[in-house]
Amino acid sequence: MNKKRWYKDMVFYQIWPRSFKDGDGDGMGDLWGVLEKLDYIKSLGCDGIWFSPIYPSPGADCGYDIADYLDIAPEFGGMEAFRKVLDGCHERGMKLIMDLVVNHTSDEHEWFQKSRERIDPYTDFYIWRPAGPGGKLPNNWDSNFEGKAWTWDEVRGEYYLHLFAVKQPDLNMDNPLVREEVKNILRFWLDLGVDGFREDVITFISKKEGLPNDRLFPIHKGIRHYSHGPHIHEYLEEFKRDVFDHYDCFTLAEVPLVWPKQALSYIDEDKGQIDMMIQFQCQCADCLFTDYLPTKFSLRKMKKAFSSWQKKLYGRAWNMLYIENHDHPRIISRYGNEKYWKQSGKTLATAYLFQQGTPFIYQGQEIGMLNWKPEDPEMYEDVQTRYQYAHKNLRKSPKKRLQKMWRASRDSARTPVQWDASENAGFTTGDPWFFVNPNYKKINVAQQEKDPNSILNFYKKAIRLRKTLPVVRFGSYQEHFPKNSKVYTYSRRMPGQKLLVVCSFSDKPAKFKLPNGFDLMGSRLILTNYPAQEKLLQPYECRVYYWKS
Ligand code: NOJ
Repeated sequence: MNKKRWYKDMVFYQIWPRSFKDGDGDGMGDLWGVLEKLDYIKSLGCDGIWFSPIYPSPGADCGYDIADYLDIAPEFGGMEAFRKVLDGCHERGMKLIMDLVVNHTSDEHEWFQKSRERIDPYTDFYIWRPAGPGGKLPNNWDSNFEGKAWTWDEVRGEYYLHLFAVKQPDLNMDNPLVREEVKNILRFWLDLGVDGFREDVITFISKKEGLPNDRLFPIHKGIRHYSHGPHIHEYLEEFKRDVFDHYDCFTLAEVPLVWPKQALSYIDEDKGQIDMMIQFQCQCADCLFTDYLPTKFSLRKMKKAFSSWQKKLYGRAWNMLYIENHDHPRIISRYGNEKYWKQSGKTLATAYLFQQGTPFIYQGQEIGMLNWKPEDPEMYEDVQTRYQYAHKNLRKSPKKRLQKMWRASRDSARTPVQWDASENAGFTTGDPWFFVNPNYKKINVAQQEKDPNSILNFYKKAIRLRKTLPVVRFGSYQEHFPKNSKVYTYSRRMPGQKLLVVCSFSDKPAKFKLPNGFDLMGSRLILTNYPAQEKLLQPYECRVYYWKS
């Protein structure tokens, strides 16, 4: 049986702070707004919050470019507001985790400013290389966001490496002084009382010695030389041994390009260096590796991804469950169906919330927010989207390119949370920093709080069930009919309890099939999104049956 740790019983809510709730009327979401909404988050049944970065930052990557790790940005309310939010969480029995972004800093961080001037001890804090003959780049690696991974710095007279935006220089984690700084950051926040960290692209921090050219990858050149690099386990072990082991906290690592077998080398409960992992396979049922290479949604691909993580981690490691976050477009617009907005929103919730692991809900997901579709590409804010629009698919018409952005852009999911039907969706009394999705009069929290059949109330019910039924948290998992391309069916079992989850992903009636050995006699239908159960499953119908012996 799994060892129990507190995070296994929890449901987290992810806050992308700029767009969550503005408390001071300046048009930007902030911690005062969060403070107002703590009871709302709690009312959902969530007992933890993950904050996307709230540190001082020039905002080149909406906060993932940090200029000071030991402070809170003034526009979010500074340390004063943060302490109130932290206390507010703890008073309500909720945990709070921070985003730790240490693969890179902002180029406006003091370390970078000193490093480019070669002021010790910062000279080797980043990855600097001289130009090759004729000004040649040090290698052929791509940035994950814009162009090549190297930018020339006039001050230092060298290139610096940035795996993401130009304004996000990569730290040189091979330098022990950098690792000491990381540990100081961790201790600072843990001593203040935070309960853990989500670690941004943490498996990119160790680069292959010599930074060799990449000849294999057609896109994201270089990735095999910095993903799961040579010292990754050693550095993570060091952070654990020197810091995490001394606190009651947990770590959640973001890991692109990982499969369950390799994941176990990080999150195995006996030998791992971290507690949970954000994997990307569950996000690839309608694309190849990135949202910018879209394919038709395949339910079978989604099921396969879910099932393989469920099965391979069972009893050995703990899953992190999610279907949305700030890096992907809204899930109903992708895996669901906007025409069957309510039904598919509920089916998607059911498909993942009854698996084993700790679920995360991204702000607005609980009311079924949909993709934002701007009319003008200039309206995009995100650095990656702007680059993709301006430099990729140039043979396509501007209209086609724009439509591709609707489908792939992270900004599709970064519009302000729709609190009510008032101006600016109740997000701010000021001028919103970003566009509000025009559908806010139909889709908003206030309306759904009143409607017993809303997506929001469905989430509350599903979360309540997972909290009260141990089989959801600790039972074994089995998928049924894996080849069925319309219906996702799985069961969970533990002695004395059994659960069957059936989710249709079809916009037409689909066959309802019971797996061998299951009989509805003696079962209770504990959750569904249709008033009555027909022989056939209705479009996007979901059902959860429960047996107790
Ligand atoms: C992953 C984060 O989730 C994303 O938002 C960010 O842009 C990149 N890492 C770079 O920090």
